[in-house]
Amino acid sequence: MAQPQIGQEEIDAVVAVMKSGMIASGTIVTDFESAFSDYIGAPFAVASSNGTTALHAALLGLGISEGDKVLTTPFTFIASSNSILFNRATPVFIDIDKDTFLLDLDRLEEYLENANDSSIKAILVVHLFGLACDMPRLMKIAEKYNLQVIEDCAQSHGAEINGVKAGSFGDAACFSFYPTKNMTTSEGGISLFKDQAKADLARKYVNHGRVDQYKHDVLGYNYRMTNICAAIGLEQLKKLPVMNAQRISNAQVYNELLAANAYIKTPVLPSTFKHVYHQYTVVVEDIARDEVQSLLKENNIGSAVVYPYSMTEQEFYQDKSINVGDEISREISRKVLSLPVHPGLNQSDIEAVCRVLNSIGLSK
Ligand SMILES: Cc1ncc(COP(=O)(O)O)c(C=O)c1O
Repeated sequence: MAQPQIGQEEIDAVVAVMKSGMIASGTIVTDFESAFSDYIGAPFAVASSNGTTALHAALLGLGISEGDKVLTTPFTFIASSNSILFNRATPVFIDIDKDTFLLDLDRLEEYLENANDSSIKAILVVHLFGLACDMPRLMKIAEKYNLQVIEDCAQSHGAEINGVKAGSFGDAACFSFYPTKNMTTSEGGISLFKDQAKADLARKYVNHGRVDQYKHDVLGYNYRMTNICAAIGLEQLKKLPVMNAQRISNAQVYNELLAANAYIKTPVLPSTFKHVYHQYTVVVEDIARDEVQSLLKENNIGSAVVYPYSMTEQEFYQDKSINVGDEISREISRKVLSLPVHPGLNQSDIEAVCRVLNSIGLSK
């Protein structure tokens, strides 16, 4: 399902850092912060140890704290909404759109129209599987209700709307560089900001709340990225456009070959959006998803259920969150199946997967 594309360039870059002796956080991290923020088109960047710490730091930078409410999606990886809980704020789950699997902006708007609640402070939107949410519309809603916006871009490095990159719209945007992601630093993350003061605050939290050597004025954390990770990231960033192009080309083969399959609904691609297919996720209709997954497994083909539960079903969330509606999120979590799409695969690999899937789908 995933295969990090590590070449000699990454190996040489890591060896150079090791030989320099500066293996913790240093100038290579600063270089990576500049290169990544330039690539996305957001002015300020704070690198961190992973995508989860990037989210935590971003919310701290935006001042989200106890008693606040943050509107978000119930169909995501748990780190998205955990970052709200880390700050003792309350996640408010708004259901998703059944075609894009993303936060449903009609429902979001409807909720805000009726809520009249001054404790709602922000929207945490997740660009799931490589497809960005409709950010121009979401930003208008946020502006109307005076809310801050955090983009969770852990799965959307290089995704675009009208040629503008996901991660450049919100007050903050967070990326993960875990090895399964569109680019990696081994473990790693970054938060991008529009406002320097918010970025500076996040940076302070990432480094023990430090204001000067051994002087600290808030309860901070050690969430720093290392030069070793940043060196990998600088090389991966150069390769990201090519790796994304291979994902897109693999996805196009799936789209064509699965188009006539009666049991499989391929991912939607709204016009003017660039999907970067962190996952190629289909909806399995009128047949048990497990049967399809077993058939793939019998043929030595990997697949994954991402995600089998709506966040609203997580037991420990019950008394810590508000569930405004999760019907679609629950339904989709029972039907989705992610197929291998990573850049280590080529057309003939995808054709092989489709032959297996079409051995059931075309005979309905
Ligand atoms: C949507 C989303 N948000 C946040 C994260 C957290 O990133 P990390 O695993 O680097 O902490 C992930 C990682 O899987 C993710 O998919």
